[in-house]
Amino acid sequence: MVKEKSANNKSNMLSIDELATFCKRRGFAYPSGEIYGGLAGFWDYGPLGVELKNNIKREWWRFHVHQREDLVGIDGSIITNPKVWEASGHVASFVDVAVVCKKCGHKAKIDKHQVGKVKCDKCGSDYIVKGEFNPMFVTNVGPIKEDSIKSYLRPETAQLIFADFKAIHDNSRLKLPFGIAQVGKAFRNEISPREFLFRCREFEQMEIEYFIARGMKCPYIDEIKGVEMEIYSEEMQKFDKNAKKMKVYDAWKKGIIKNDWHAYWIALEFSWFVLLGANPEKFRARQHLSEEKSHYAVDTWDLEYSFPMGWRELEGFANRSNFDLTQHEKHSNKSMSIQDAIAGKVLPDVVCEPSLGVERAFLVFMFDAYEHDQKRENIVLHLSPKLAPYKAAIFPLISKGEVLEVSREVYKDLKEEFNVLFDESGSIGRRYARNDEIGTPFCITVDESSLKGKSVTIRERDSTKQIKVKIEKLRSVLRDLINDDISFEDAGKAVVTRVKKE
Ligand code: GAP
Repeated sequence: MVKEKSANNKSNMLSIDELATFCKRRGFAYPSGEIYGGLAGFWDYGPLGVELKNNIKREWWRFHVHQREDLVGIDGSIITNPKVWEASGHVASFVDVAVVCKKCGHKAKIDKHQVGKVKCDKCGSDYIVKGEFNPMFVTNVGPIKEDSIKSYLRPETAQLIFADFKAIHDNSRLKLPFGIAQVGKAFRNEISPREFLFRCREFEQMEIEYFIARGMKCPYIDEIKGVEMEIYSEEMQKFDKNAKKMKVYDAWKKGIIKNDWHAYWIALEFSWFVLLGANPEKFRARQHLSEEKSHYAVDTWDLEYSFPMGWRELEGFANRSNFDLTQHEKHSNKSMSIQDAIAGKVLPDVVCEPSLGVERAFLVFMFDAYEHDQKRENIVLHLSPKLAPYKAAIFPLISKGEVLEVSREVYKDLKEEFNVLFDESGSIGRRYARNDEIGTPFCITVDESSLKGKSVTIRERDSTKQIKVKIEKLRSVLRDLINDDISFEDAGKAVVTRVKKE
């Protein structure tokens, strides 16, 4: 394992291996079954990692499903009838090319269109093509070999949204345009899983299939008018131009992004990351080159993030048109058309498929949160309170008597609603440092003055400012702080802390 950097380490200087080392040390994620040497491409999430991952998924679901009128969710199975994957084209066309470097032996997968065009990303030498392979994991369904059928672990969550499309439409009250969301595991037998959580063999996706009747305009387009980011179209790439910072709305108006729905979803997804604390300067929207597109896509854009390894895909936005529904119609002999209140009888298009990997979102939030604070001389993980594994830590200043009792009561009460931590060991400074490092946004201290005044002190992780809050109001204050409904200064009475003499 690589050593973490110590002093002067800002998030943008951390390598992916250093982040992996930090995540292992603090219990965010470790190689799966490591006592047996692990298994490439598989990771286990520890006590902090599982909380962060669940919070990312919960925030995604709230934002995309609960807070919208035009989206519902499903939870499809991981293994399904193999005909689903034949119809979708994954059996025949979901193919990567395996290559090995002539000089250093580095193994990689490349797209078909890259054969002969790309060099080894480790040493720059030529690759030798080892053949094509389909990354779907095969499994046998049924315990008796002769009776079992060959199926696959799903390589994307999207496909059951299409297979179940009619049923979902029939039993929900959706009118076009509408979306169907799914969060869950996906599996790909990647030839070279690497870069910590970036390319795994088992991972999770958060996907939306957004359906329209062809030609339907995006009624939400004005909502993204203020969103600005780097845009990198196919033309800019082909003519060796740089990506250009512009309003996503203007990129659509100028025809750089052809489709209003594409512009809307790219801007919305970028905003979701920024709302949860990601650094907007590290994102760009890049259009796929024609030869790079998947077998089902008409036009694809990626939301890319500047990882320490370079610009990489974070989330894909494919226009799948009616490819999938048409395929399922052909293969199942069942109509996939719906009767829509406005559009009438129609086979809808998927005008955009925002498809995001949970692991890559996890990396982005960790990279943008991590800071080695020189003044504090410890790591501070500036995670959004919504994503932080623990929302608060409760410290009794004295580990006995009434102070301890009141602290336990405060802890028990907060635990009813939030994931909070009780920490009574070590100096207060040590306890702050420990919690800064795991991203706990608020530390609550109970001392003797709490007994008389029935109040506690809350210290904010990022500013280290402190306020006094009445115990009876603590739960609602913490809720407001987590939801960003109140500023820290307005949440209680400021406490003047002593400044240490040099
Ligand atoms: N349904 C479309 C689809 O699956 P994709 O571009 O192959 O499209 C979508 O995958 C997203 O899933 C990617 O942008 C990435 O965030 C995530 N992803 C794909 N393969 C992954 C892998 N091997 N490990 C981790 N995340 C992966």
